[in-house]
Amino acid sequence: MRIIIILLSKKLCDGEMKTLNQESLQKLVEAIHDSKPISGLTHAFYRYPARFSPRFVRAVIEAFTEPGEVVYDPFMGGGTTLVEALALGRQAFGTDINSLAVFITKVKTTAMSESDAQVMRTWFANAENWLNLRNPPKRSTEWIELGYQKNINGRTTWPIRKILELALANVSSLPKPNQQDFIRCVLLRTAQWALDCKKKIPSAKEFRAQCVEFFEGMVQGVIELQKVMKKCIEKSLHLDSIKPLCLQQSVVGIESAAINKKYLPPRLILTSPPYPGVHVLYHRWQVNGRKETPAPYWIAGALDGNGASHYTFGGRKQEYLRNYFGQALKAYSSLSKIADERTLLVQLVAFSDPSWQLPTFLETLQQAGFREIQIPDISSDKYDGDDRLWRQVPNRKFYAGQKGDITASKEVLLVHRLR
Ligand SMILES: C[S@@+](CC[C@H](N)C(=O)[O-])C[C@H]1O[C@@H](n2cnc3c(N)ncnc32)[C@H](O)[C@@H]1O
Repeated sequence: MRIIIILLSKKLCDGEMKTLNQESLQKLVEAIHDSKPISGLTHAFYRYPARFSPRFVRAVIEAFTEPGEVVYDPFMGGGTTLVEALALGRQAFGTDINSLAVFITKVKTTAMSESDAQVMRTWFANAENWLNLRNPPKRSTEWIELGYQKNINGRTTWPIRKILELALANVSSLPKPNQQDFIRCVLLRTAQWALDCKKKIPSAKEFRAQCVEFFEGMVQGVIELQKVMKKCIEKSLHLDSIKPLCLQQSVVGIESAAINKKYLPPRLILTSPPYPGVHVLYHRWQVNGRKETPAPYWIAGALDGNGASHYTFGGRKQEYLRNYFGQALKAYSSLSKIADERTLLVQLVAFSDPSWQLPTFLETLQQAGFREIQIPDISSDKYDGDDRLWRQVPNRKFYAGQKGDITASKEVLLVHRLR
């Protein structure tokens, strides 16, 4: 193993990137195969579909950047990259077109004072009085009219819907926007736990108890993140503050967006884009079987209004995934315009049929101005003889996998630089 790593380090270092020491390379290889449940800091605030393993993200950031450098995730989803970047004292920048992703990432990366936590604790302590199913309803008329409560008014789901309505009607009594958003996120997480792909919907009483338990854990998570960020600043001579920048913005056209110069060009672009041919539901929960609901947007107070294909580079039904690769070309061309010769693009990508989609994806990146740097697989778990580093994804809710299609539950590590 030792010999292989030395050879691999040499291959990587041949003028391609920052010298990787054996330790960080070993960490990277181990981290990519990490299958532990996601936890720590603010990572468990929401189960965002196709989210990264924080351990993998940490290993990549440590391997390829120094404190104070900018890490950008253009398809940030639930913000795993931004949280880890902040915890490692890097400047964190993220974009996503999904308002839900932006809401979640902002809450996960927004500081909170002890007095904020205390105000929210008091809010929860009073909740017993008004979070009661016997109380008169407080209907969210505007959201109902827009269809955001679809499929959550059934025999088993209405008590959860009513509790959520009562809670959301009281959120505005919290004095500060960061407190209101934090509580919305607690409700969002609890509602996801209660409704999304759940066989047995919990009672209103169980929902309330879970809400309180999640709340305390989430407060600890934010406080822990603040502590590690503070330590990074104290340790580094070159760092006086770390601030996340989190925008609802498409990657297509990012080069023309008004972005603080401090974040460009990024040192590392670490991301996972929408996957070719793989059906991932970024914007809906599935209730009582396969019934889809847009309720997460109502709870987050964020508008959606888009179909699934909006979030996945176009549908996955056309021949040769023309829409997908057309959108991908535009997105990566934009990324190449904000990168420089030092920027490294590191990605994890899954495919419904890698045999033709992987070469097409690589060709698209090349057309967009990137060249690949190969990191050969040093484990025994190779995919179909391919020399790259592949990872088996644990517990992935991929819909492509439902008909016995196992390829989509493997992801490949791709590393690129500007040509
Ligand atoms: C695979 S997910 C990212 C998950 C993320 N790595 C995490 O840890 O949660 C891909 C994301 O790309 C976003 N997306 C799709 N098209 C986009 C575009 N043109 N610009 C920015 N984001 C986009 C989707 O909304 C989705 O959140």
